[in-house]
Amino acid sequence: MTTEQIPAIEVRHLTVSYGERPALLDVSVTIEPDQLVGVIGPNGSGKSTLIKAILGFVRPDVGEVLIAGQNVDRAKGLVAYVPQRGAVDWDFPITVREVALMGRYQQVPWYRSLRKIDREAALEALDMVRMSDFAERQIGQLSGGQQQRVFLARALAQGADILLLDEPFAGVDAATERAILEVLERAKSAGKTLVVVHHDLTTAAEYFDKLILLKQRLYAYGPPRAVLQEELLSQVYEGRLRVFADLTTGKGA
Ligand SMILES: Nc1ncnc2c1ncn2[C@@H]1O[C@H](COP(=O)(O)OP(=O)(O)O)[C@@H](O)[C@H]1O
Ligand SMILES: [Mg+2]
Repeated sequence: MTTEQIPAIEVRHLTVSYGERPALLDVSVTIEPDQLVGVIGPNGSGKSTLIKAILGFVRPDVGEVLIAGQNVDRAKGLVAYVPQRGAVDWDFPITVREVALMGRYQQVPWYRSLRKIDREAALEALDMVRMSDFAERQIGQLSGGQQQRVFLARALAQGADILLLDEPFAGVDAATERAILEVLERAKSAGKTLVVVHHDLTTAAEYFDKLILLKQRLYAYGPPRAVLQEELLSQVYEGRLRVFADLTTGKGA
């Protein structure tokens, strides 16, 4: 049996609440393998919650998430997560190489030390994000974009087929954003499926194969051209967006 025919991620009728109000309500999405998928929607629309549900970090009230056809709880090794930069302690004394190696500990039981193959996987991952030259640098001494790439390397070193990124472009400059995007595209070419929370609608069409438009419910899912429709966007963003003309030409930026 190959996994080719099985969706990478299947979200079925997912409802997740923290308190009384659901953060996600009856969301269903099927993500095919080898895709670069963007998740868009205003603040508080449930984007991070969707990522956490796909990781199995939050329990659904209703519905389920399948990873390569299996329940999330049984598929944890298949999914790697790149956290938001704000969620990391950058003063922690650890080198770039050590962060990438952390990706391997998921595979290695506590009683066994890392093997050559683990070290190689970590170095390969650093190479993929073009950070090998910085291997011995402390993570606190890197730029925001470099830090983001190191955490991407950690996820790649894990060997997971599915990578989830929560706003990887937040707080980085345009050149760095390009560099990160290139890495995402390279990961896709290497057969990964990527789901990326993104809040810049002007670049969404250019960056992603498909977009998920969320605001508690799923408003649209499909090619950027189909999702970046004026009517849909004005419903979801409620007039907080004044650049419809550019976005809905299907060209993005
Ligand atoms: N840990 C939490 N406890 C309570 N409410 C939360 C928690 N995390 C998120 N929420 C709420 O759930 C909704 C969706 O949040 P989130 O998924 O973080 O949205 P987004 O990532 O799109 O900004 C928001 O109303 C937010 O306030
Ligand atoms: Mg968020």
